Amino acid sequence: MSIQKIGVLFVCLGNICRSPAAEGAFKHIVRERELEQFFHIDSCGTANYHIGEEPNEKTVKVAAGRGIVLKHKCRQFSARDFQRFDFILPVDRSNYRSIINQAASEEDKAKVFLLREFDPTVSGAPDVPDPYYGDIGGFEHVQDIVSRCAVSLLDHIIKTRNIQVFSEPEPEEYSTESEDFEDDI
Ligand code: 4NP
Repeated sequence: MSIQKIGVLFVCLGNICRSPAAEGAFKHIVRERELEQFFHIDSCGTANYHIGEEPNEKTVKVAAGRGIVLKHKCRQFSARDFQRFDFILPVDRSNYRSIINQAASEEDKAKVFLLREFDPTVSGAPDVPDPYYGDIGGFEHVQDIVSRCAVSLLDHIIKTRNIQVFSEPEPEEYSTESEDFEDDI
């Protein structure tokens, strides 16, 4: 029997910094919990500036420091993504508006959530700050945020979509230290 996969799509502006970082973090935790069979996971940008490019080198470096290997080619959001994904997660309000403007129905709109609605450390779902023009510290901060959100988002999906989990997850730590296992996306 084939399983109907749950589609999860992370969206930022350029699809080279924040959304590939979020995609990598989410794939990492899904793999750790051995739930890959249930998910189809991707990221994209609302802009077309970097189509076909690999993630930003600072994004890749910071993710690698957490044991996450980013493998992604930038692509632009398309209205067709509403058919392919169940959870569409823009990282900020500007990208949220851009996606909502492309929704064809209330059903489409109901799939769109600001990523930081799933950040357990804040209320009001603030924007994930754009690190593109800043130094490596900004990229570390972004990775901290998206990693927290990834854990809470997965917990939310497991609960609301009635996914059967057979093993208890390891407690998550949000340290910036390297881990000695690898993940790829
Ligand atoms: P992202 O960051 O939306 O997190 O991928 C950006 C990447 C590129 C640009 C802006 C933001 N840009 O202007 O090229």
